[in-house]
Amino acid sequence: MRNRLVVANWKMNGSLEANARWAEAFLALEDAGCDAAVCAPSVYLSQMACLLKGSSVALGAQDVNEFESGAYTGEVSARMLAEIGCSYVIVGHSERRALYGDTDDRVALKAKAALAAGIHPIVCVGETLEEREAGETIAVVSRQLEAVIGKVGAEDFARCTVAYEPVWAIGTGKSATPEIAQEVHAALRAELTKHAAELGDKVRILYGGSVKPGNAASLFAMPDIDGGLIGGAALKAQDFYEICTAH
Ligand code: 13P
Repeated sequence: MRNRLVVANWKMNGSLEANARWAEAFLALEDAGCDAAVCAPSVYLSQMACLLKGSSVALGAQDVNEFESGAYTGEVSARMLAEIGCSYVIVGHSERRALYGDTDDRVALKAKAALAAGIHPIVCVGETLEEREAGETIAVVSRQLEAVIGKVGAEDFARCTVAYEPVWAIGTGKSATPEIAQEVHAALRAELTKHAAELGDKVRILYGGSVKPGNAASLFAMPDIDGGLIGGAALKAQDFYEICTAH
């Protein structure tokens, strides 16, 4: 049995004041009844660690550097994230792949660095519209997944979460239908099972891309969708809560 996991990816949004208001509003609601996490911009991680202390909401980061320490101006290491209280980190988000040059290989190294620091990587995979139209969806997401499993090993991949985020559905208001998402999630799970039956059973596969309170329940009802990675709708505490509790 895989517990639902719903993760907020705030991207480059928020302020000291807005974050405090979000935490106050979210924590005033009933327990969400699932695993929930907030991936905040790195400058706000300390603030969020304080605000979420003692709650059931976990803290996550949006990226991590692949190296342990050293001359990497502007970067943040996995050990630093762990020290500040992060238990999750997103790696390989399509925005980082497209805008900041994150290759499959670098994403795999980032996942490995996170695991070494005791942090659960959320490994994002997803095809562009062009790739979907060319019939390459499963090949693309399998390649992205295999790059990470190959580097961290099947045993350690059990501590990872996968997020399927079709690039064409991110921030567009055009979510994948539950059927389209399920088809890819099932293929990803089959890929995991090829490595070890336990991996297929255990690893959670989240869907991301225009998830909102109105479409979360139908997506989460699919057998291989174990939760969501939420962008825009996670900026409002009430919407994020409704997604967490959607049924
Ligand atoms: P939206 O929910 O805004 O489409 O963003 C999804 C996403 O990229 C989460 O990582």
